[in-house]
Amino acid sequence: MTTTSGTETVARDVAAFLARRRADVDRELERLLPAGDEWPSQLHRAIRHSVFAGGKRLRPILCLAAGEVLGARTEDLIAPACGLEMIHTYSLIHDDLPALDNDDLRRGVPTCHVVFGEATAILAGDSLLTHGLGIFASHPRGERFAAAKVRVLETVVDAIGTRGMIGGQAADLEAENEAAPTAELVAKIHENKTGRLMCASLLVGAILAGASEETLSIVDLYGRRIGLAFQIKDDLLDVESDAATLGKASGKDAAAGKATFPGVWGVDKSRQLLSENVAAAVEAASALPGGGGVLPDLARFVGSRTS
Ligand code: IPE
Ligand code: IPE
Ligand code: MG
Ligand code: MG
Ligand code: MG
Repeated sequence: MTTTSGTETVARDVAAFLARRRADVDRELERLLPAGDEWPSQLHRAIRHSVFAGGKRLRPILCLAAGEVLGARTEDLIAPACGLEMIHTYSLIHDDLPALDNDDLRRGVPTCHVVFGEATAILAGDSLLTHGLGIFASHPRGERFAAAKVRVLETVVDAIGTRGMIGGQAADLEAENEAAPTAELVAKIHENKTGRLMCASLLVGAILAGASEETLSIVDLYGRRIGLAFQIKDDLLDVESDAATLGKASGKDAAAGKATFPGVWGVDKSRQLLSENVAAAVEAASALPGGGGVLPDLARFVGSRTS
């Protein structure tokens, strides 16, 4: 007789949940993005190449999970959730450009600039950013969301601008020339380049659910911890995994002189810091209604993911 441990059952449930939500997100992205044969078709094909190459869709899933736990309807959240995925995909297309990380493989396929050329890849990224922001202005429709949509836009713009994701990306590039980056610097880079958009994704769901300020601060706490954990894990996977598993090159960070958690702390201590951040996220989520629903399991997934 085979027995299944509680942990395995939870992991299987989360995997099934993620697969279901990924399908929901992909269906909506398909609806929201221009067709590949719409003028200018090369640009639209480039956008679709990167968006539909795959991806975990974690940011939209976090948005849906946070919103639903706080009482929002999926139908009101799904378009903004996809706006977050568009902005994330823009950040990946630009992150891979020769002037930034110079990567050839992403989501298991050649990067946007490798297939379509640099100029089109830059414009595909610009388009996804613009399209994503536009969605926050128009969705969900209805007067009752008017104030929440303004708050959503402010939250996302703050998270992805020079005091957030782009600031983190700039500091990440600058730090390549840093002989001995400090632990504080690496944490700041990671919190900004990756953590802020992830945290904002949760907040978008919570804001659209009409959450109180107190609840938003709990979601923010969870989001900060899961965001940092996500990038620590990304750094660890770059050291420990391979391109076939990740769908992107590994071993690139050390070669490029990137400021990373394993670089500053070593692998063992980085794993410990990862666990601590996951545990803090789990604890924060448990203060939410219904014990945070699927959010604690999503935090554990971030800590244990293999790609
Ligand atoms: C990769 O993000 C870029 C980072 C912020 C580390 P993901 O690992 O979420 O990439 P996809 O969306 O699943 O491809
Ligand atoms: C990317 O960080 C962060 C953003 C795209 C904003 P990385 O450069 O570590 O991501 P990967 O490893 O290329 O996915
Ligand atoms: Mg990078
Ligand atoms: Mg990169
Ligand atoms: Mg990385």
